[in-house]
Amino acid sequence: DDAEATTPRPPVVAIMGHVDHGKTSLLDALRTTDVASGEAGGITQHIGAYQVRLPDDQKVTFLDTPGHAAFSAMRARGANVTDIVILVVAADDGVMPQTIEAIQHARAANAPMIVAVNKVDKPGADVTKIVNELLQYEVIAESLGGDTQIIEVSAKEKTNLDGLLEAILLQAEVMDLKADPEHSAEGIVIEAKLDKGRGPVATVLVKRGTLKRGDLVVAGSAFGRVRALLDERNAQLTEAGPSVPVEILGLDSTPSPGDVFAVVENEARARELTEYRERQRREKATGGINQ
Ligand code: GTP
Ligand code: NA
Ligand code: MG
Repeated sequence: DDAEATTPRPPVVAIMGHVDHGKTSLLDALRTTDVASGEAGGITQHIGAYQVRLPDDQKVTFLDTPGHAAFSAMRARGANVTDIVILVVAADDGVMPQTIEAIQHARAANAPMIVAVNKVDKPGADVTKIVNELLQYEVIAESLGGDTQIIEVSAKEKTNLDGLLEAILLQAEVMDLKADPEHSAEGIVIEAKLDKGRGPVATVLVKRGTLKRGDLVVAGSAFGRVRALLDERNAQLTEAGPSVPVEILGLDSTPSPGDVFAVVENEARARELTEYRERQRREKATGGINQ
């Protein structure tokens, strides 16, 4: 984290778990909109990233994951974006292969885990069985003397969402997360695509500093002036501070997940950086054999 910073920042929370255990439904419930029902086949196609503002003005940034490939890619490149992992386990299904993968991801990223046992409204729900299964992976519930909060929820019935948010805020408080909003803005590219009408569009997560419209940014080997900042509902923002996820328009090419972005003072500096990164990328790709 930002060692000298004194300003608290919202926690960045990744929702992980086995396919169809209810990650997107849970996020929908938490922000009371409905993305899952609008998805093609109900399968998450991209990383959704957004902030939930709580009644007391506390904020939590959530990242939804389409499986773990994007996160593996980011971690492999040293980009740790996640403070806390919410492991979603369906109460009628239990620990499954991608549940185990998610546990391993959280450990590798050194991110504390909170388990959300979802679908407790279903007739086949068996929370005790899940608590015991998790024990085999050394995920030990507080009720058994461990340090993992296990929260029973139903995304469908919207039950105990308060309990889950409380658990997140409690964990965040212990972590004492801080960042300097006055620092020159930098962060990580979460996803990027080439949009027919708008050109390269990158979803970035600001780690420190405040990104503003008009800033000159370098993202991987892409650069450009930020033409627009958009939240997940496509609302225009003028700036984005620490832990805020935003889509940015104005880059000259499409960066990759895990690329670092940073604001630079001028175009000369931007070119220097992008050329350096492009060279590094090429050397890596050829294994340093060429030249
Ligand atoms: P992927 O992104 O495809 O991995 O799935 P996901 O984990 O995001 O699950 P999703 O939210 O798409 O939910 C999968 C299915 O479970 C949907 O049919 C949901 O309606 C259902 N579901 C999710 N949460 C609950 C719940 O709390 N109770 C019940 N009964 N059904 C739920
Ligand atoms: Na699904
Ligand atoms: Mg989903």
